[in-house]
Amino acid sequence: MMGRIGFRVALALALWATPVSAQNMAAGAQPLDKLDLAIGKALFKRPWVPAPASTRGDDGLGPLFDARSCTTCHPRDGRAPAMIEDGTAGRGFVLMIARPDGSGDPVYGRRFQIDAVPGIPPEGIIGVKDTPLPDGRTARAPHPQGLGYGALDPASGLSLRVAPDLKGRGALAQVPDAALLAIETEQAKGQDGVSGRARRITRPDGTTAIGRFGWKAGQPDLASQSAEAFFLDLGLSNPYHPEPWGDCTPTQAACRDAPHGTANRTGGTADDALEIGRPLLDRVVAYVASLPPPEPEPLPEPQRRAGARLFAATGCAACHRPALPTRDGGQAHMFTDLLLHDMGPGLGDTMPEPGAGASQWRTAPLAGVSEALAARTGLLHDGRARTIQEAIGWHGGEAAEAARRFGALPAPDKAALVRYVSSL
Ligand code: HEC
Ligand code: HEC
Repeated sequence: MMGRIGFRVALALALWATPVSAQNMAAGAQPLDKLDLAIGKALFKRPWVPAPASTRGDDGLGPLFDARSCTTCHPRDGRAPAMIEDGTAGRGFVLMIARPDGSGDPVYGRRFQIDAVPGIPPEGIIGVKDTPLPDGRTARAPHPQGLGYGALDPASGLSLRVAPDLKGRGALAQVPDAALLAIETEQAKGQDGVSGRARRITRPDGTTAIGRFGWKAGQPDLASQSAEAFFLDLGLSNPYHPEPWGDCTPTQAACRDAPHGTANRTGGTADDALEIGRPLLDRVVAYVASLPPPEPEPLPEPQRRAGARLFAATGCAACHRPALPTRDGGQAHMFTDLLLHDMGPGLGDTMPEPGAGASQWRTAPLAGVSEALAARTGLLHDGRARTIQEAIGWHGGEAAEAARRFGALPAPDKAALVRYVSSL
């Protein structure tokens, strides 16, 4: 039934039944109701199809895309499995492309898309070069293969990233900018080499904001982050990115000319001209924002307390802050400071961005690490680390002192600290 009448038609009916105030709501202004969250969840899991499709209204995917749905990369709202098979990245990875001024590659744009609608060549395959190191770690670098549109521009940098966990990001969205700026000031005065920077973002309208989402805190809020995914990963236009051809550059002419979902729209408003209009985007965002922080694995209380003490004494908690204040007077227990830290050249890639150097990364929230270990997803921005010890082994730059202290701990303390972090 749903397939026949089209998903957007069913949605339109559902939206018609919800109060107008909810429809006009700006993202994040107030919580939407249960029906809105259910619609948001359905949209999050929805596999989109290329236009034109018999299921009018669920189309618009591509022309270039990485995945057909949000859930492909964020399975069960969690992080992607970071699978490399035969030197090729599995679903859930993205390969970002940017030149130092932030612009995309003149031919490939800002994403290296591995899929395309029929008749359009995909951009290629995300090859991955893993190099075993003498100490047991594995270095990882992207290595695009089968380039569908010729060579990449020599000035184009590449950043391979895996889809992070989405749970608890609503709480992170509620941390006031002022709290992050206060931590930045506090760290600048410290002696331990830790001095994080709040990521400053200039929005397209010229206003500035503090970034907090993505491995480099490149997006200020859940709406801009989700809109970017709709646009670059799924090729669906939306209020932030109205171009229906997604990431196809003018050089990719056939891609620009391919049919797009807008052609199926009947309404006359600017929002109707988008593949993902404001009400749909707001509901996906409301769904993501509603996901509670991941549950830590229960540890016997004395063990948990001893672990937390070691975590603080070793210097991990300087960046992986156990809690941040939220606007409603509560706390986000996510183990991050949301600031960018220089982690040293070992974690650097070839894609510096305006406002974030090649080796600067947002402190990864450790909440959810227990699930990541159980699902063996890999750790760090490109999934290269298999264990907590390996992840710590990659901590250089501002985190070098904490990593050194960890290395110098007596074996039982080391084990206790690793056990504690593994439970988060
Ligand atoms: C092709 C894989 C892929 C798809 C599809 C995808 N994402 Fe993501 N997502 C990622 C990656 C990779 C990141 C990290 C981005 C970065 O580092 O800037 C991310 C980050 C996020 C974040 C920020 C999490 C954090 O810890 O800061 C949110 C929120 C998010 N995605 C929501 C969505 C939504 C909503 C959709 C569907 C519209 C979606 N994603 C589709 C790969 C994907
Ligand atoms: C200077 C700040 C800083 C300090 C100190 C620090 N970390 Fe990190 N940590 C980071 C950043 C930034 C990342 C993300 C790096 C990346 O993905 O490239 C990270 C990532 C991690 C990860 C991987 C998380 C994931 O989701 O993939 C683990 C585990 C971790 N840190 C544990 C620790 C432990 C344990 C300590 C103390 C021994 C510690 N960190 C000290 C900043 C820090």
